[in-house]
Amino acid sequence: MPPSDVRLAIVGAGALGQAFAGALAAAGGAVTVLATPRTAAQLLGAGAIRLHGAVELSAPVTDRAAEPGVVALTTDPAGLPAGAGLIFTPKGHNLPEAIAQVRSAWPGAADDTAWVCGIQNGIVKDDLLAKAFGPERVVGAVTILGGQREPDGRVAVTSRGATFLGEFSEQPSARVDAAVAALVAAGIPTQAVTNIRTVLWSKMCNAAGLFAVTCLSRVTSNRFGHYGELVRAYMGLVRETAAVAAAQGIPMGDYPGFPIKSYLARSDDEMVAYFAERAAPFTPTPGAPESRTSMLQDLLAGRPLEVDAIYGDVVERGERVGVPVPRLTLARDLVRAIDPGRRSP
Ligand SMILES: NC(=O)c1ccc[n+]([C@@H]2O[C@H](COP(=O)([O-])OP(=O)(O)OC[C@H]3O[C@@H](n4cnc5c(N)ncnc54)[C@H](OP(=O)(O)O)[C@@H]3O)[C@@H](O)[C@H]2O)c1
Repeated sequence: MPPSDVRLAIVGAGALGQAFAGALAAAGGAVTVLATPRTAAQLLGAGAIRLHGAVELSAPVTDRAAEPGVVALTTDPAGLPAGAGLIFTPKGHNLPEAIAQVRSAWPGAADDTAWVCGIQNGIVKDDLLAKAFGPERVVGAVTILGGQREPDGRVAVTSRGATFLGEFSEQPSARVDAAVAALVAAGIPTQAVTNIRTVLWSKMCNAAGLFAVTCLSRVTSNRFGHYGELVRAYMGLVRETAAVAAAQGIPMGDYPGFPIKSYLARSDDEMVAYFAERAAPFTPTPGAPESRTSMLQDLLAGRPLEVDAIYGDVVERGERVGVPVPRLTLARDLVRAIDPGRRSP
């Protein structure tokens, strides 16, 4: 199947869902997005997905079938196309429900080629997808494409960070290659890899290190290097997460934005010096954009935190493989306590 014929569909019309869908449609793709009724109505009212920042484009939307260059919005999972690669973008705490909704109607019994992936931070998403759709349909995915929804309905694409796709069998595949080609053609830097577990866990190390540290200190990501104690806390969390991966035979790697293998090879003192050299000026420049982790953005906006998909899950995995994770356990408990989505006192 030539890349232009690959059919990608998306669950969730949030920051990343709109960024992927808008870029694919602007490159001539026919993309279907399963959205919540509220957001589908909002986007249909606006008439287009509008991206600005690192990507500037507008892609028309319709409530009818997808056609090249137009994003079809549906609120019914039965409206998802057969034979598609379906990218799940709901937040970790909404993922189980989104998976259940989709699975009740898609893929059809005769649809042998449909596959799924999830771009949430963390590892548990792939277990949830495999349980619902079968492991053979799940492709591993990691992204550091940056985006956030704006009050005016646009999506700010804050960085054109890399996306990685790979089979858990660690073999190359035609479906991964076709999806990568379609995303690259849409201007989304994407790589096919045969070590997706290493990419997933390396990203997980960075998330587990940064999220708790920045939420509990409220320090921006580009300035946390000024605080040696925060860098040490970050490295403690990174080392514990990497130990959980190592106990499963998964080595860490170096990737732009999360060169975890290199971090682990350095002492904490060396890492304190490393981050101090790269930190933004201590006093923020008026008007200059601040960079906050997604969990700190959620905390400041009063939204639920992905605490269980990140910390709850890695603590459980540590316990399962017999690796002590006292720092991750403390981070989980402290972040749970300040989670605006916390259900009971
Ligand atoms: N944003 C980033 O820069 C970034 C980077 C890397 C990884 N990630 C990860 O990617 C995930 C998505 O992030 P995001 O910033 O795009 O979040 P977001 O803006 O909150 O988007 C999530 C979307 O999923 C929708 N949704 C929730 N449940 C649904 C369901 N059952 N059916 C259909 N749609 C459903 C939400 O609906 P509503 O529209 O009704 O809210 C929302 O549109 C998170 O796990 C995040 O950690 C994000």
